[in-house]
Amino acid sequence: MKFIIALIKPFKLEPVREALQDAGVEGMTVSEVRGFGRQKGQPVFYRGAEYNTTFVPKIKIEVAVSDDLAPRVIEIITEVAKTGSIGDGKIFVLDLESALRIRTGDTDHDAL
Ligand SMILES: Nc1ncnc2c1ncn2[C@@H]1O[C@H](COP(=O)(O)OP(=O)(O)OP(=O)(O)O)[C@@H](O)[C@H]1O
Ligand SMILES: [Mg+2]
Repeated sequence: MKFIIALIKPFKLEPVREALQDAGVEGMTVSEVRGFGRQKGQPVFYRGAEYNTTFVPKIKIEVAVSDDLAPRVIEIITEVAKTGSIGDGKIFVLDLESALRIRTGDTDHDAL
């Protein structure tokens, strides 16, 4: 199993959610977060100039999926969240050791 963390532009949440559900994702966690990348939160990149770092609002999506589904999930987020402008976001992929559905006791793949 993989645990996929994606930081995306807020207006991309709904299309990403819809596309992931269409692909068979059964659950996800979403948070409103703030962050910065290489441009330190500036709306454009000025080479050589000094600017203060600011935090930009982003959406964090966390989704636990089977190894089989993970490549498709990464592909969908990449395609749907992309605008081609700076700040489109990032995807981090972690190995997921275990999962458990509290109500039923289902574990691992049965719990996703
Ligand atoms: N190294 C990092 N570690 C943790 N979070 C990060 C990291 N880089 C970016 N993020 C998160 O991803 C968000 C979007 O980053 P962003 O897309 O601006 O990355 P970038 O490397 O600057 O790429 P780009 O040049 O396309 O803007 C940030 O606001 C932050 O929340
Ligand atoms: Mg950036």
